[in-house]
Formats: sequence, structure tokens, C-alpha cells
Amino acid sequence: MQKNITALLLCILLFAYSTSSHAGQTKEKVLLDSDMTEAFDDGIAMLLLAGAPNVELLGVTTLSGNSWVETGTACALRQLEEGGYTDIPVAKGLEYPLRPNRHDLFTLERKFVGRGHDYWVGSLDLKEPASWQAAYKAVYGQNPTMKPVDRHAVQFIIDTVRANPGEVTIAAIGPLGNLALAVRMAPDIVPLIKRVVYMGGAFFQQGNVTPAAEFNWYFDPEAARIAVRSPFREQLVLGLDLCEKVIFRAEHYDRFLKAIGDHPVRKMVRASFAGQSFEKDPNFTFFIWDVLVSAVIIDPSLITESVECFIDVNDQMGLSYGQGLAYPVEPPLGTQKARIVTAVDTERFWNLLCDPGYWKGKKQ
Ligand code: BDR
Ligand code: CA
Repeated sequence: MQKNITALLLCILLFAYSTSSHAGQTKEKVLLDSDMTEAFDDGIAMLLLAGAPNVELLGVTTLSGNSWVETGTACALRQLEEGGYTDIPVAKGLEYPLRPNRHDLFTLERKFVGRGHDYWVGSLDLKEPASWQAAYKAVYGQNPTMKPVDRHAVQFIIDTVRANPGEVTIAAIGPLGNLALAVRMAPDIVPLIKRVVYMGGAFFQQGNVTPAAEFNWYFDPEAARIAVRSPFREQLVLGLDLCEKVIFRAEHYDRFLKAIGDHPVRKMVRASFAGQSFEKDPNFTFFIWDVLVSAVIIDPSLITESVECFIDVNDQMGLSYGQGLAYPVEPPLGTQKARIVTAVDTERFWNLLCDPGYWKGKKQ
């Protein structure tokens, strides 16, 4: 009798364990904070996390950057709808960077600081849609089936972290306004965040949007400085030092299309700037920035080189506004440690991204 009860208890425990994890592995809880676009790169970064069996995507928070927050929110909803991930909440966040009138003064600012090697300046150069609904209708010609949650992204971050103490990885693949305001409004969440994985900064090389700065951190340098100076348990940074080493070529694009098969986002991939460019010119190359963040969260063993430094962001309006700074020794007071990733195993990265297992749509 005693033996039977022990065996029964063992079975119950095994069952509970197997249903709470994937193949014995606990799922990584991830909150994605993004200046969302369709397909490459933020959209694919989101869908890769949504389709990863070892990840639980707790939500997607949006803000302006690459696109206006209205457009980004519409794109996030549409791509989740298309992928069948309608249970993943989307929370709409910041419209503007912290420094006032950045959008109004951008033309002058550009004359003042000059351009880097990328032309793209996202919402700094785009007309703002009236609402996320208007943006959705304009882009997709129909009404959405999902809608954002009835809570601001900043509050959503705070609540999600408090509800999952010590467990949430924040994947910060856009400007850092939502995260900065969350830690300012609720400093108690800082030690509760498991880690922050950023796509941002250019530390040991030139920027892209200006000669000094990378786009995400340049868009809102004040916010970026607040975020990276927060004493998080762990900060992992994928800056241009890594992202511009991983070159996206036509062969990868073809493999990717094969992997996604008839996944409903296929048409978005083909219509995207990267997709159109590859289809016109087989020698076209692109970068894949934010997708690398999702990939190293799914499989941290992809990282082959990194350096540990104290980091900062220059928020003094001037030629180096938004520049990422790394201090191996004698850092400025208030800066925090981070691991800056400088290389990944690119072959294994492309194998992961082009694995059809991630592109089945809604998880079973
Ligand atoms: C970053 O800016 C955006 O264009 C990309 O999505 C990426 O997050 C690259 O500088
Ligand atoms: Ca982005």
C-alpha cells in the first residue's frame, strides 16, 4: 500500500514537471519591448520568441522608434493575429522620447550632428498616424481582431515583473523610454528583473544613425542612460559591434523562406524592405539586429565572444549624443556592469533562425 502511494505521488510529480516545462527544460519568461515593424527585424524577433518551445512570451510592449508607436502597435497585433498567437498581450507605450520636441527639431539636429552610414531614422522622419486603429486600417485595409490591453506599457512592465519576481528577461529591442519610466516609477522592480538583453549601442566602432551613435540609443539617449545605469542583476548588450558582423545575404533569405513555408507572415516578409531588396538584387546585404537578441535568449550558447565592462550612454546634446560608452576600468560613478557580446556562432545562428520548428504558428 505504502509503495503504491509513493508510486502515485511520483507519477503526479513527474506529470506536473513535464507539463510545466518543455522536454524537461523550464521556459524562459520573456517580455519584449519593441519599436515594432513588420517582419525584419522586430517582427521576426517577436515571432521567433513566440514560436520558441523553450520561451514563454509574457507580452509585447511598444513605443516609437523605428515606427510611430501607433504603427508599431498595429504591426505587433497583426503579426500575432497572423501567427495565431492571439493570447499574447500587447501594451502600447511611449509616443515620444524624453527630450521635448525631438521630432519637431530633428531636421535641425541632423544638420548639427551629421549622418552615419544608415539613412533610416524611423519615426523621426515619418508622419504620425492618428491612432493605432487608423494605422491598422491604413496598412491592412480591415479592422483588427485583437486590441492592446487597457494598460500603458510602462505599467504593464511593472506589473509583469512584480508578478514574476526574479524570472523575467526583458528583451529591449527598441529605444528605452518604456523601461526607463518603469524603473523610475517603480524602482522596486529593478532587482526583480532576471536580466535585460538590449539591442543597442555601438561601443568599439562607429554608429549607424550618426557617426557616434546607434539608432535605438540615439532615439532616446536620456532614457537609455537611465536604463543602463539601473542596477539590474544582469545586462547583456548586443550592439553594432556584434550586429554589423552578422551579414544577412540572399542565401539566408532563401533558406528562411523555405523554413517558414506557408506561415501566414510569409507575405509580410516578402513585402518588407529586406524581402523586396533580396528579390530584386541577389547581391543585396542587410543586418538582422533584433533577431540576434531573440536567438541568444533562446540559445545563449550561440555567444562565442563577449567583454565585461561598465557601460553608459552620452546624453549631452552634441556630436556624440546617444553614443554607447564602455569602461573596462575606472568607470564613472553610477555606471553598471554589462556583458557586451562581440561574436556569435553565425552558422548555428542561421540554423536556428531557419529551423522550420520555430515557424509552425500557434504553439500546440
Ligand atoms: C536598431 O534600430 C532599428 O532599425 C532596428 O530594429 C534595431 O533595433 C538598429 O540600430
Ligand atoms: Ca528595433
